[in-house]
Amino acid sequence: MISEALQRAREFEAQYGPHIPSSERPAFHATPTIGWMNDPNGFSIYRGEYHLFYQYHPYSNEWGPMHWGHLKSRDLILWERLPAALAPDQDYDAAGCFSGGAAELPDGRQLLMYTGVRRGHNADGFLQDIQTQCLAVGDGVNYEKWKGNPVLDGADLPKGGSTVDFRDPKVWREPDGTYYTVAGNRTADGSGAILLYQSADGFAWEFVRTLDRCRNQYGRMWECPDFFPLDGRHVLFTSPQEMNPVGLEFHAGNGTVCLIGDYAPDGAGFSRQSVQAIDYGLDFYAPQTLLTEDGRRVMIAWMQNWATVGGKPNPCRWFGQMTTPRELSVKDGRLVQSPVRELERYRGRRAAHRNIPVCGEINLPGIQGRVLDMTVTVRPIGNETYRWFRIRVAKDGEHETIIRYRPDQGTVKLDRTRSGLPHDVVHTRSFFADPGNGTIKLRIILDRFSLEVFVNDGEQAASAVIYTRQEAVAISFEAGGPALMDVEKYDLVFDGTGREA
Ligand code: FRU
Repeated sequence: MISEALQRAREFEAQYGPHIPSSERPAFHATPTIGWMNDPNGFSIYRGEYHLFYQYHPYSNEWGPMHWGHLKSRDLILWERLPAALAPDQDYDAAGCFSGGAAELPDGRQLLMYTGVRRGHNADGFLQDIQTQCLAVGDGVNYEKWKGNPVLDGADLPKGGSTVDFRDPKVWREPDGTYYTVAGNRTADGSGAILLYQSADGFAWEFVRTLDRCRNQYGRMWECPDFFPLDGRHVLFTSPQEMNPVGLEFHAGNGTVCLIGDYAPDGAGFSRQSVQAIDYGLDFYAPQTLLTEDGRRVMIAWMQNWATVGGKPNPCRWFGQMTTPRELSVKDGRLVQSPVRELERYRGRRAAHRNIPVCGEINLPGIQGRVLDMTVTVRPIGNETYRWFRIRVAKDGEHETIIRYRPDQGTVKLDRTRSGLPHDVVHTRSFFADPGNGTIKLRIILDRFSLEVFVNDGEQAASAVIYTRQEAVAISFEAGGPALMDVEKYDLVFDGTGREA
């Protein structure tokens, strides 16, 4: 049964979504059918296809009562739009269907697990959110909310756990058929915790343990967790609110944290050994992962940050987009990421130059464009190391987005001050990269409204949205001191015309 609220959302998106021309959207990054998008939800494989749901408010370009939008894909790059999957239409989710996950049931149906939010009164009579975990079951297009909802509520929390902040269940099914979910919660000290639950059938859930706790060290509330094995280790992701800045590792506000450690399911649980940011750019939040059939752990995230959502272009009929899906690995105890290899299938015309001396600002034949995959390697000439190196993309007389590398500091800086966003929001971010004796490799994925940089084969990644007009296609290179550069650029082409034989 499709509720009135869901029917209304579906009619609205079907009527107004097509008004947005594809030229006003990214060439391949996922966007909402219309209106607002935040977190990826239910990023998973169902009947052999990739499904990506998302936090969705179709009726405006601002956050509002949360629905689940829906996309699917055969290759993680080109997404097909499906009708909205969930709307807030029950008592227990009247204030929103918040983030969650998805898994395939043995009988072939798809299970969605999400946070139902309703408003209620606390012991002081104050109106506040009450968050519980709920289910919906469907066929990949239409979903029925489970009659036993909610399946996890305040009674399932460890002592002192908050019913106001209990959300974002990421669900998966292990090969032995057991379902697990990780959810964010707030403990009695006000700081975050990640809780693990299990279920034999996906419907009846029991608390297993607290996987890790914030203890007011990395932010406060821990949102949007994910938990998975990777290269012999276990990785716990979370997106904390209210972080304090720590050097160049963590910036203030909403951030992302990757905890790498070991997991003993029958013993001590998760023991974290290292903590790092997931993405060092300006726009990245709430990542979720899936395991592909060929064994790759792939992550996608909301390419946006809550701090900058006020900085919208005008007009703006869609707002919010996802990152390029990224393959993850752990190398030397750190998270490494690179764009999914499927992107390479869309490489079109190639331009390449080797051993180019750079000192002043130069342009190179064939190196320009706005939708491309470009790798730049820079090294010193002889013993003398250049002081800095700059790449400018999405450039014309007024605009530029700059990536700067300083080998003496080992820092990379992303600067989108002049990238078409007429709002005084944060525009620059710096982070450490391996100084590598002045040699650095930067892979840049540029789409119409974003830039993702992968440093030294994905040791660091940094993402930012830009709104520079599409005519700004120039790319230039400049060095402070002599440097040698190799550059290889492919246009990314999505209409089938660009592929090389
Ligand atoms: C994170 C988040 C989630 C919540 C959702 C609501 O961006 O705050 O914790 O489920 O957004 O849209």
